[in-house]
Amino acid sequence: MTQKHQDSTSKSPEVCSGHVAEDLAGIGRRSFIGALLGTGSLLIGAIVGTPLFRFVFFPVYAKSTSASWSDVGNIGEFETIDAPIVKTVTFAQHDGWREVVSTQSVYVSRDATGELQVLSAICPHLGCSVAWQASQGKFVCPCHGGQFKADGKHISGPPPRSLDNLKAQVRDGKLQVQFEFFRSNVPDRESLS
Ligand code: FES
Repeated sequence: MTQKHQDSTSKSPEVCSGHVAEDLAGIGRRSFIGALLGTGSLLIGAIVGTPLFRFVFFPVYAKSTSASWSDVGNIGEFETIDAPIVKTVTFAQHDGWREVVSTQSVYVSRDATGELQVLSAICPHLGCSVAWQASQGKFVCPCHGGQFKADGKHISGPPPRSLDNLKAQVRDGKLQVQFEFFRSNVPDRESLS
């Protein structure tokens, strides 16, 4: 009985080591295939995911812009002006996926050399709207009393710079402007659009 038990359970060392080697080879193959599949998945994920990531996160890194021309009026309307006149312009801003259409006031005036220019009506101090005071011959800001000459040059009060001069052109008989927002309360003009 004892002898029979020993015969059925004992194996030679060569047979055992052969099984171990086969097991190890199997594990090695499975690891290799697993690594191959993992790398393939990562590659496919990167190929598919990169454009998708850019598509989804485009609004986060896209710069808000309003670099389009807006009509201010017929150029003939401004050829003889000798004092600033206020106009309303409509412009579109593209902010990521959204297009926001806004209106803003601008002043058409003459610069120091007599050329037509278009000024933003936004006070460069804290963003109130300046108004041309014909009786005083200057722009006055209602918020903190900032004052500017007809050409937009800063005269007095807290604003750290003159009124912002906007890009303008004449096209097909129309005066056009590229409206921009600028950082408030800094001495040098810094575009935010
Ligand atoms: S906002 Fe114009 S002077 Fe302050």
